[in-house]
Amino acid sequence: MSDEFLSNGYGKVLMSLFRMDNGSVSFGGIKAVRDVSFSVEEGEVFSIIGPNGAGKTTLFNLISRLYDCEGGSLHLGDVDFSTTPAHRIAEIGIARTFQNTELFDHETVLKNLMIGRHVHRRTNLLSEMLFLPSVRRQEVAFRQKVEDVIDLLDLQSYRDQVIANLPYGVRKMVEVARALCIEPTLLLLDEPSSGLNPEETEDLAFQIEDINEELGITILMVEHDMNLVSRASNRVMALADGALIAIGTPEEIQNHPEVLRAYLGD
Ligand SMILES: Nc1ncnc2c1ncn2[C@@H]1O[C@H](COP(=O)(O)OP(=O)(O)OP(=O)(O)O)[C@@H](O)[C@H]1O
Ligand SMILES: [Mg+2]
Repeated sequence: MSDEFLSNGYGKVLMSLFRMDNGSVSFGGIKAVRDVSFSVEEGEVFSIIGPNGAGKTTLFNLISRLYDCEGGSLHLGDVDFSTTPAHRIAEIGIARTFQNTELFDHETVLKNLMIGRHVHRRTNLLSEMLFLPSVRRQEVAFRQKVEDVIDLLDLQSYRDQVIANLPYGVRKMVEVARALCIEPTLLLLDEPSSGLNPEETEDLAFQIEDINEELGITILMVEHDMNLVSRASNRVMALADGALIAIGTPEEIQNHPEVLRAYLGD
C-alpha cells in the first residue's frame, strides 16, 4: 500500500471519489503540470498548495475541463470525464467557484442561486409549457434546496439584495452557495480565502466544515492560507514546478523537507 494511502488522515479504508491519472498540461514548450496522479476520497477536504507558478491553477483548470489532459485521465466515481466539456461537468456532479467571483452583478442573491437549477431540470419543454405537476414539484423542491443553502451559509439577510451592492466577502460566499445549489458530489474551491479579512476567513473555515460534514460534500481546494489549509483539510498535496512533491496530512506537508525547500527557493 502506498504512503499516500497510509497518510490519508482517517486511518481507515475509504472509497476514492475523484481520480486524476497522469494529468499534464503544456503551454508552448513549457510543462505547467507534469504527470500528476492523485485521488480524493469520498468525504474528504483535500487542499492543493505550492509556491507561485507551481501549477495549482492550471491543475484546477484541468480538473474543471478548461484545459485538456494530454493523454491522462479524470474520473469521478466510475465516470470518466477526461473529455467532458467544461459546461457539462455540473451534470456529473462537479461544481466550482472562481478566484474572482463570476456572478450576475445586477441580480439578487436569490436569483443568482436559482440560476443553478437548470442543471437539475428533469422535465421536458412540453411539460413545462403545460406546467404539469411534475414541473411544479421540481420547482418547489429546488426552492427548498436554495433556502437550505441560504440558511447553511448564513445568507438570509442578503437574499433579496443585488450582488453589486454586497461586500466582497459576501459575494464570495454567494458563489459558494450557487455552487452548492447544483448539489455537487465534488466541490472545487479556487482560493476561497483570497481577498477575505481574518474574520471572514475564520467564518469560511466553519462554512467549509459545515458543507463537508452536514451536506457530505467532498471538497478539493487550492488555497494559500496555511492556517485555513491546516484547519480545514484532511490531506494536502504540494506542487512545485508543475510536479507533485508530496501528499499527506497538513502537519506532514508543513514539515516535509522538499516542500520547505520548494517554498524557500521561491
Ligand atoms: N495560459 C497560460 N499560458 C502560458 N503559460 C501559462 C498559462 N497559465 C499558466 N502559465 C504558466 O504555467 C505555470 C503555472 O502557472 P499557474 O497559474 O498554474 O501557477 P499557480 O500555482 O496557480 O501560481 P499562483 O500561486 O501564482 O497562482 C507558470 O509558469 C505560468 O507562467
Ligand atoms: Mg494560481
